Amino acid sequence: MQVTFQVVRQTVDQAPHVQSYSLDVEPGNTILDCLNRIKWEQDGTLAFRKNCRNTICGSCAIRVNGRSALACKENIGSEVARLQQIAQDRHQSAAEVPTIAIAPMGNMPVIKDLVVNMQSFWSNLKAVDPYVSTQSRQIPEREFLQTPAERDRLNQTGNCILCGACYSECNARTVDDSFVGPHALAKATGGGRFSRRPDGNAAREVR
Ligand code: FES
Repeated sequence: MQVTFQVVRQTVDQAPHVQSYSLDVEPGNTILDCLNRIKWEQDGTLAFRKNCRNTICGSCAIRVNGRSALACKENIGSEVARLQQIAQDRHQSAAEVPTIAIAPMGNMPVIKDLVVNMQSFWSNLKAVDPYVSTQSRQIPEREFLQTPAERDRLNQTGNCILCGACYSECNARTVDDSFVGPHALAKATGGGRFSRRPDGNAAREVR
């Protein structure tokens, strides 16, 4: 299948511009597979982050057709189907050659092309105390034991791979740079409620 990729390219001191690349791809190819091919076969100057290629490390978050996502998770088939559905909802005919728009994440300044400066993301994460903490706890001799119910409370936020996609899409962060961002709130709340120890210390415990 022929697909056009419209990639927003930019450096720190340049206004962004869109560059088009055409590729013959399989529906099962991920967006990251395609970016790799563009870089290896057509344009070695294209910059983007990647590492695990398996939705584990969080390095490859970018905007795909207007929403932040992991490039190694989204595949061509589902993106094209999404574009077709949008066209159908708008009573338009889908483009013969689908066009996939690729852009850097939002709410963070661009260093080059799809690589953004995540300094504020990491600083805000560091600024927040974790929900699960050893502070105000007795450190056991061997290990902390946890019940399945206690672990369940952490399942959702514990799955965060810190890719920055939520931060990129966060409107609150866009209008208020004192807001630490959803990733930092997840670290602070752990999917449960804040708790206070009877002695009044601001410890957050898994209960
Ligand atoms: S490359 Fe690691 S999450 Fe995509």
